[in-house]
Amino acid sequence: MHWGFVLLFIYGLLKQIDELNQLKDEALLKFEVIFAVIFILLLLIRFVYMRTTQKTSLPQSTPRSQVIAAKVVHSGMYICLALIPLTGLLIGLLFWLGLEDGFLINLVVGSHELVVSLIYWLIGLHILAASYHRLKKDGVWSSMVPFFKEVSNEDDKKINI
Ligand code: HEM
Ligand code: HEM
Repeated sequence: MHWGFVLLFIYGLLKQIDELNQLKDEALLKFEVIFAVIFILLLLIRFVYMRTTQKTSLPQSTPRSQVIAAKVVHSGMYICLALIPLTGLLIGLLFWLGLEDGFLINLVVGSHELVVSLIYWLIGLHILAASYHRLKKDGVWSSMVPFFKEVSNEDDKKINI
């Protein structure tokens, strides 16, 4: 779920539209809409699956401020991941209705770009936090990242004795 989504998101970024006029290509508009709908459906499945079956790997001893920070960043990423395709769909709808220029569509395109910028910051913070946990060797990194796995502090102690 986690890494599949990272790949899907990177694909979404790579195939991004560079300017509004490209949507005149009907096949591209159709593809964008289908991609955005599939993205939203998969995001919904992921969200429900994660919330109902998984728990955070943060240790019990984690300071409250860090637990809150993690929740804010995780929820922020979910909100952005939903708003990017939703604003994209709104752009598609307005364009299809013939509103190819003007205040409204420019406002929605601006919002689309703003949420994209926001998620870049959140992902940056998220990776920074994951690296911090990797240094702390508290199991959070290894719960999700399949490489550069840590030896836990407990294991270190066992080896040193
Ligand atoms: C597009 C990039 C990424 C997005 C959108 C993303 C999103 C998320 C979200 C929403 C969670 C919370 C659990 C969930 O609901 O799935 C999570 C957990 C996690 N992610 Fe990412 N992630 C990204 C990239 C990365 C990268 C590159 C790393 C490591 C370098 C990473 C490491 C982790 C770890 C360790 C957790 C577990 C946190 C915990 O147990 O509380 N993520 N990620
Ligand atoms: C998951 C779905 C989508 C992703 C990941 C995505 C991603 C992006 C990204 C990264 C940008 C560039 C933002 C920037 O330069 O700051 C962008 C711009 C744009 N996207 Fe999307 N997008 C998605 C869906 C859609 C849809 C469905 C439409 C319309 C049918 C759309 C239309 C546009 C337009 C018109 C722009 C602005 C081009 C300009 O600067 O004039 N996007 N999108």
